[in-house]
Amino acid sequence: MNKRFFITTAIDYVNGRPHLGHAYEKIVADTIARARRSLGREVYFLTGLDEHGQKVRQAAQAEGKPPQAYCDALAADWVAFAKKLGLSNEDFIRTTQPRHKKYVQAILTKLNNAGHFYKAVYRGYYSAREETFLTEKDRLPDGTFDSAYGEVIELEEQNYYFKLRDHQQWLIGFIEENPLFVQPAYRRNEVLGFLKNNALDDLCISRPASRLNWGIPVPFDPDFVTYVWFDALVNYISAPASAGEPDLCAAVDIPAAPDGPELWPADIHVIGKDILKFHAVYWPIMLRATGLPLPKQILVHGWWQKDGQKLSKSTGNIVDPVAVIDEWGLDAFRYYALRELDIGPDGNWTDAGFRSRYSAELANGLGNLVHRSLSMLKRYRNGIVPPKSDDLASDAQKAAGETRSMLEQNRLQAALQCIWALVTRGNQYVDQTAPFKMAKDPAQAQRLDGVLYSLAETCRVLAVLLWPFLPATAANIYAQLGLKEAPGRFADSAWGALPPGQAIAEPAALFPRKD
Ligand code: ME8
Ligand code: MG
Repeated sequence: MNKRFFITTAIDYVNGRPHLGHAYEKIVADTIARARRSLGREVYFLTGLDEHGQKVRQAAQAEGKPPQAYCDALAADWVAFAKKLGLSNEDFIRTTQPRHKKYVQAILTKLNNAGHFYKAVYRGYYSAREETFLTEKDRLPDGTFDSAYGEVIELEEQNYYFKLRDHQQWLIGFIEENPLFVQPAYRRNEVLGFLKNNALDDLCISRPASRLNWGIPVPFDPDFVTYVWFDALVNYISAPASAGEPDLCAAVDIPAAPDGPELWPADIHVIGKDILKFHAVYWPIMLRATGLPLPKQILVHGWWQKDGQKLSKSTGNIVDPVAVIDEWGLDAFRYYALRELDIGPDGNWTDAGFRSRYSAELANGLGNLVHRSLSMLKRYRNGIVPPKSDDLASDAQKAAGETRSMLEQNRLQAALQCIWALVTRGNQYVDQTAPFKMAKDPAQAQRLDGVLYSLAETCRVLAVLLWPFLPATAANIYAQLGLKEAPGRFADSAWGALPPGQAIAEPAALFPRKD
């Protein structure tokens, strides 16, 4: 068995602008992907775009463009955004790609043949902004619908429905027996509460083609297209199927590539709290009906606010990740996002908080440790690594062990806390040993050797531990140490790998002070 670790993000609506929330989710997934690679797994990290729907169609029309051309132009910006975030994704799926459409149609055919769908008339309300049907239950106490739904129209139309109710008891049992299926635990409880207290409504999976819809033609009825959730969720299997994943190809009778990678079931779907029901209720049922195993985990993050208010384009309360990265550097942005907000609760971005972490933890913490350690090595030993010493070995091994355990549990914020305990210890060690004083006393030369080795080796270990989080900074530390290889293997965090006699490179500030 050579199954790879398969991790995904939600696919973003193509017609929005990338914001902090999108950036956060991708950085979380990227850091987990890198951590698993560092720990020795082969990884397949998938992200992408959700491109169908009425909104997209309308926006394209407003710009006088065919919908595909409109999507292509926007998709280029999103791909550039993924690059800007330093994502290490293996694949980038767009739901308008033929590989995706083909797979969606194959599943529709299979489920239809097996009797999972029926056609019925729907009378009621529809929100194009959220691409969802609403009922009287969705009205607010004052009789209106939440403004998040935008304009809500009344309509009556025929559509295809997917029978969910037959699977409800099974799903409750599955979630009860698999405590890690939805994480954190309070999100799992939310899903269980919902499933136990509501009879599931069947899921509408089509829209009439006559509504000028931008979607995937329903293979057994040309009057309909499918889009939104049935379409979007399938990205998690259409992309790996197109790479030749054997079980996913077999599920819909398409030929698998002879060396197709084993990817399914996904190890982690990283999503935001607002789309939990789709991933923890609809998706498992779709997979079960298709005869496929369920993903191992749905990892649900909270939502960012700025200054205690909802992110909103209309009020201008936004954080533009690209502007922050251009001003402060990618790793500073990744650091703040992952250090400030644990995966689960909601978070609050403040510019003051960002500056404070930048200056205290990056510039004066990590940056200062690396810079003074290497500068002293340069000054007092001509940049040549002295003989080995073990002064900080146990501190470094403790940090590495704890970090590993946190990474194995996807506890990224806690892992950063473990790593920073070593940063703090390193700086404290400089203050306690005062190598600048030792350097003035020839009798202490050997002792100084030991201190300088311990500090340089601590910087090296830190680079290895930091690599999943701050890949460029980690590589920079390795380069400054004169090491040719990359810091991307967790096993290299074992103490003592820095070779005595090695010539280090020129020390340079990792995080320039901005004040
Ligand atoms: O929901 N803070 O796309 P989307 C944190 N296409 N995360 C946030 C956020 C915030 N303020 N705002 C949004 C869709 N997100 C669908 C998904 S998946 C098969 C289809 C997160 O562009 C949100 O929770 O509206 C979601 O996980 C992701 O960004 C994409 O949101
Ligand atoms: Mg959304």
